[in-house]
Amino acid sequence: MKFESILFSVVEKTAVIKLNRPKALNALNSEVIKELDEAVRMIEADPQIRVVVIGSDKHFAAGADIKEMIEMNPEQARAFGFTPTFNKLENLTKPTIAAISGYALGGGLELALVCDLRIAGPDAKLGLPEINLGIIPGAGGTQRLPRLIGASRAKELVFQGVIIDAPKALQFGLVNEIAENPLEASMKLAEKIAGKAPLALKAAKQCIAMTAKTDIRAGLEYEEVAWSSLYATKDQKEGMRSFAEKRKPTFIGE
Ligand code: CAA
Repeated sequence: MKFESILFSVVEKTAVIKLNRPKALNALNSEVIKELDEAVRMIEADPQIRVVVIGSDKHFAAGADIKEMIEMNPEQARAFGFTPTFNKLENLTKPTIAAISGYALGGGLELALVCDLRIAGPDAKLGLPEINLGIIPGAGGTQRLPRLIGASRAKELVFQGVIIDAPKALQFGLVNEIAENPLEASMKLAEKIAGKAPLALKAAKQCIAMTAKTDIRAGLEYEEVAWSSLYATKDQKEGMRSFAEKRKPTFIGE
């Protein structure tokens, strides 16, 4: 597939996805979602790619494309919805980082919420303004936001449709950090994570995802199996031997 609505590149071991509809402040339309879906498929299939950064040159994304949605009926809205693609992105076995510049609103913030980590620029403006359009967040906002920042704070944002700045987002725990250049900071973080053992990263991500699905007892059992299974990997031997031999490990993903 030829990408037009997104820009896709691979830098060392990091896949970089940039949304590419600057005139519409990167509003997410069907084309963007189709291309994002394909990019996720390519990333999962490529063992050379260890980490993913999603960002933009200016605005992260000002939400789903309102103009495309105006005349939709419920069936069309459901078919337009981003949940299948966002779920695939969330379930990627590789860590994902959202580099948030400018607006991350509605579906744009929901895209950032799907990522494992979020770095905001000082100019970042985040919110779920769907209530002002007579709808609710429909790409995971009512589910992922409360799990991340708590129901009370999520309601504060969703009921009023307010837009918050980067310091407030940091205070809420909505973003991990604020960086002058979020894309650059995300690439640096990606490089650090890309040097870790891929199978351990995959297991860590899957175990942490279990916290949203199970009670702690089942989660601990899942962790025990995942943890002990890693002792069958070459990277576990390499990691522990390198410690004993006082050298840096080289992980191969096996
Ligand atoms: N959909 C379609 N077009 C959009 C858009 C969106 N979400 N956001 C911005 N644009 C377009 C504008 O229509 C405008 O296009 P034209 O030049 O052709 O008129 C262009 O981008 C620039 O936008 P503005 O002139 O409005 O820029 P501004 O600086 O004055 O305001 C803004 C910026 C506050 C982000 C404002 O554009 C805005 O409020 N956008 C909509 C935000 C929003 O409500 N997002 C939620 C969408 S619903 C959703 O996401 C549903 C879901 O859960 C999946």
